[in-house]
Amino acid sequence: MENNQINNTELEGKVALVTGGTKGIGKAIADRLAQAGAKVIVTARNNPNEGNLKHAFVPADLSNAADVERAVKEINEKFGKVDILVNNAGGMTNPGGGHSALTDQNWEDTLQLNLLAAVRLDRALLPQMLEQQAGVIIHISSTSALFPVWESNMPYSAAKAALNSYSKSLAAEVAGKGVRVLTVSPGPVNTEGMQAFLQDLAKQYGTTTAGVIELMTARIGVTPMGRMAEPEEVADLVQFLVSPKAAYLTGANYIIDGGNLPVV
Ligand SMILES: NC(=O)c1ccc[n+]([C@@H]2O[C@H](COP(=O)([O-])OP(=O)(O)OC[C@H]3O[C@@H](n4cnc5c(N)ncnc54)[C@H](OP(=O)(O)O)[C@@H]3O)[C@@H](O)[C@H]2O)c1
Repeated sequence: MENNQINNTELEGKVALVTGGTKGIGKAIADRLAQAGAKVIVTARNNPNEGNLKHAFVPADLSNAADVERAVKEINEKFGKVDILVNNAGGMTNPGGGHSALTDQNWEDTLQLNLLAAVRLDRALLPQMLEQQAGVIIHISSTSALFPVWESNMPYSAAKAALNSYSKSLAAEVAGKGVRVLTVSPGPVNTEGMQAFLQDLAKQYGTTTAGVIELMTARIGVTPMGRMAEPEEVADLVQFLVSPKAAYLTGANYIIDGGNLPVV
């Protein structure tokens, strides 16, 4: 989805790091922040395709502490600072089927990617933000944290709930020191990750992706908007949150789910 209305330069001079910035929501965020004038660095395990070459690329498996450390070193050496950190990399890598289908390794892998990668990157990049008394950290969570579905996402929703709590704590810790920390919680978004998740679950349950969507709808209800979000819609929210217009916003969790969550 192209957005020709974005032609401002409000992020000029800023360096933004977007994890998982080669696909889906992360790619849309990286593109938006670049459109707003930021120098954007993306990380992922695989080299981006041609469409992404406009951003700087630092390879890293963020599930691995040593790789996070190496990537931070490379980023500091090449770019000197990070003003905006978008912890977006994440996803559901575990099997569905509830508690008995899940091994320690499934739990460990999910927590590494969805919680500890952000904890480690924040810890590594915060000192310089605190020194310059400016910076914004975004944690991309999920409405699954608030509304888990045991058949499909037990470790993922638990990891994202932990991320929400951690994000709130960190925001309070650094609020008086010029750094803002925010959580963004999308409902279903039309990405490769979402399509892969639907296909995996369909295989496991011996059904189709339509069957999985039916199961999900029975659990979490109909989305009043009647569709998934597009990645660019999440990116628009993130662009606002990292901008100077959002200077008084910190510590909150912004839900973007087409009205799906049935709670106030
Ligand atoms: N799509 C949804 O419906 C939805 C809903 C709520 C929340 N979210 C959250 O939004 C974020 C992005 O989701 P998405 O659907 O856009 O994902 P996606 O399409 O699967 O893209 C994931 C990105 O993260 C990278 N990545 C995956 N594992 C990584 C690892 N171990 N180390 C480094 N990079 C890694 C991927 O590149 P490589 O594979 O090359 O590493 C890719 O760039 C995630 O945190 C997800 O939990 C998504």
